[in-house]
Amino acid sequence: MARRTKVYEGKAKILYEGPEPGTLVQYFKDDATAFNAEKRDVIDGKGVLNNFLSELFMSGLNGIGVPTHFIRRLNMREQLIRAVDIIPLEVVVRNIAAGSLSKRLGLEEGTPLPRPIIEFYYKDDALGDPLVTEDQILAFNWASHQDLDDMVALAVRVNDFLSGVMLAVGIRLVDFKIEIGRQFDGDMQRLIVADEISPDSCRLWDIKTGTKLDKDVFRRDLGSLTDAYSEVARRLGVMPKSPTPIKPRLMN
Ligand code: TMP
Repeated sequence: MARRTKVYEGKAKILYEGPEPGTLVQYFKDDATAFNAEKRDVIDGKGVLNNFLSELFMSGLNGIGVPTHFIRRLNMREQLIRAVDIIPLEVVVRNIAAGSLSKRLGLEEGTPLPRPIIEFYYKDDALGDPLVTEDQILAFNWASHQDLDDMVALAVRVNDFLSGVMLAVGIRLVDFKIEIGRQFDGDMQRLIVADEISPDSCRLWDIKTGTKLDKDVFRRDLGSLTDAYSEVARRLGVMPKSPTPIKPRLMN
């Protein structure tokens, strides 16, 4: 098989050149990192679960007219996506106080917010992805006024969709992060949801018990991350056949 050209390698995914211009292959690794990669591990099967879950969310969004980079899943770990220029901002939507918002404002985790709150973080590992204001975004030209309007509109629609999907299977969507890219068609550009949507980038709590079913399990050493992600996949009906490699058993 011909060797593929690697375009980019991040902490949890690798991008390869796609089969056609304007496409890429996104490979989901098993690597888990937290606190700007200060904590890291390899979690057997995480990449497979995130590939299937991101497929479910992104194809669902495409289906309701929210544009995403997702074209189709290729195999257990890879999906075909549209190539975009990623805007260097992480867009976080919060429905319930948790994580860095709770810390920064002294809000107890689990406090419902009066309305969804949208925040922007500048994507820069060396700086630890700092929270930035809209004025800073405009002044440094990371995005225009129109881009900001479009990003907020996309984030709100993703929040509505994902909240509903999760609620239907007894899970509260506490918060999530998305990344957005520019897709060019001649002189026209449109913003589309890119990267991934998975339990790596969301906070998901069981509605009845409050059990965490997301990457906080890894960040806070709360148990098995694959068990948590498998539970989300099982409830959503996308449990891949074999998320962890089956070890061959010796026969005698
Ligand atoms: P935070 O409370 O730590 O700011 O996280 C908010 C949301 O963003 C949460 O759902 C986890 C997600 N997130 C990422 O996807 N990547 C990151 O690097 C961080 C810090 C958070």
